Amino acid sequence: MIEAVIFDLDGVLVSTDEQHYQAWKRLAREEEIPFDRAVNESLRGISRMASLDIILEKAERQYEPATKKELAKRKNNLYVQLIQRLTPADMLPGAMSNLAELKAAGIRVAVGSSSRNTGEILSRIGLSGYFDAVADGNDITHSKPDPEVFLVAMNRLGQTPEQCLVVEDAEAGVEAALAAGMRVLGVGAAASSKKATHTVASLAHFSILQWIQELDKA
Ligand code: BG6
Ligand code: MG
Repeated sequence: MIEAVIFDLDGVLVSTDEQHYQAWKRLAREEEIPFDRAVNESLRGISRMASLDIILEKAERQYEPATKKELAKRKNNLYVQLIQRLTPADMLPGAMSNLAELKAAGIRVAVGSSSRNTGEILSRIGLSGYFDAVADGNDITHSKPDPEVFLVAMNRLGQTPEQCLVVEDAEAGVEAALAAGMRVLGVGAAASSKKATHTVASLAHFSILQWIQELDKA
């Protein structure tokens, strides 16, 4: 029986793809490193430092660890400025209705995100204090596809992997959920995932509750 749903944040509950892209693009331009939307796409679900390492693969020079830390900080400062403008209207279609429907049915809801800005984003979209548990980039040492963030969320909920469903838009996140022993619904960019338990283009016009009730019957 599924008793809890762990939602990824960026790309599942809220649309922050453009803000991440703009911040990385500006940093890459300042450092004269080639960067485009295809590279940005490969950063989905990946932690800030691991994302930077991917971007620096195209750099002509080598970066010392201290310089890399400074670059990551610069990107984050740009990103944090951009997310100041987030409002509840930036929630993705179907996210709020699914959360409310699950909660009303007694299913516990949690966030499992690689982002260290999770608290700030949840507050901007009006969801601080809404979830039964939140696990984010500040709680973990291993980024998706490692299962750590979902296991932290699960432990905070007091559930087992079989009782948890993950909702993810990143292939790295789909792999993380499976590695945690959980079932996973792929949405958005993960709608073409071959590994997810089930996929759907968007949460709009899709009822997670109805789907898990069918899963539990099967
Ligand atoms: C994930 C995003 O949710 O969080 C990634 O999909 C991002 O693109 C990662 O790199 C880390 O985010 P932050 O906010 O800690 O830089
Ligand atoms: Mg995501």
